[in-house]
Amino acid sequence: MQYLKLNLGCGNQTPENWINVDYSLGSQVAKIPLFSLVNSQLKIFNLTWEENIFIHDLRKTFPWSDNEIDCIYSSHTLEHLSKDQGHYFLQECHRVLKQDGIIRIVVPDLKEFVECYTRGEMLAEDFVKKLEVWQESNQQSSLKITFQRFFSFPHQCMYDQDSLMRIMSNIGFKCQIKKPFESEIDDIKIIEPPDRTEAAVIVEGKK
Ligand SMILES: C[S@@+](CC[C@H](N)C(=O)[O-])C[C@H]1O[C@@H](n2cnc3c(N)ncnc32)[C@H](O)[C@@H]1O
Repeated sequence: MQYLKLNLGCGNQTPENWINVDYSLGSQVAKIPLFSLVNSQLKIFNLTWEENIFIHDLRKTFPWSDNEIDCIYSSHTLEHLSKDQGHYFLQECHRVLKQDGIIRIVVPDLKEFVECYTRGEMLAEDFVKKLEVWQESNQQSSLKITFQRFFSFPHQCMYDQDSLMRIMSNIGFKCQIKKPFESEIDDIKIIEPPDRTEAAVIVEGKK
């Protein structure tokens, strides 16, 4: 039987042998051949989305059956969902994973940012920028603001080690804090971009 691995909220990280899932408008229009062709000539949008991305909105019920999936990796995506959506997302991960299936979630570490700021190593404006919450600028045209909503996904929730461990444990995962590349996932070096593990919380769990 095929070993099924999901990379949820893949962005431009689309390694082979993984089902790379995303829902951005860019990944959706990249599937329209005529649009991709015209865009590649006219450079209307800066699209670097692979055509082989599996399109799914991770706020919705997953299109996989109970106990079907062997491994789930998700980097810097959970924080783009609201607290309730994130909880539902993790419940869906638990539902589709096989018994003993592996889940690895990487998110920016709120505590690390706060400590950096309170130690005086980060300006207030840089701290707020780092949180990547939605910021509208008065200098932007309303047209740009309208379109931006389709292309940018601000953070809707932030986590630290304790909160992520607590949420995942409550859902039923047996989980541990991990270091970058410390994993039971065989091809972790292929799926985990080094720059994404800096100032991040990494929790790996088993169903
Ligand atoms: C910050 S990027 C992370 C990309 C990649 N995993 C990485 O670590 O570089 C977050 C990704 O989550 C995707 N995303 C956000 N909300 C989503 C949703 N509701 N359904 C599917 N993908 C979503 C975005 O399109 C984006 O590609």
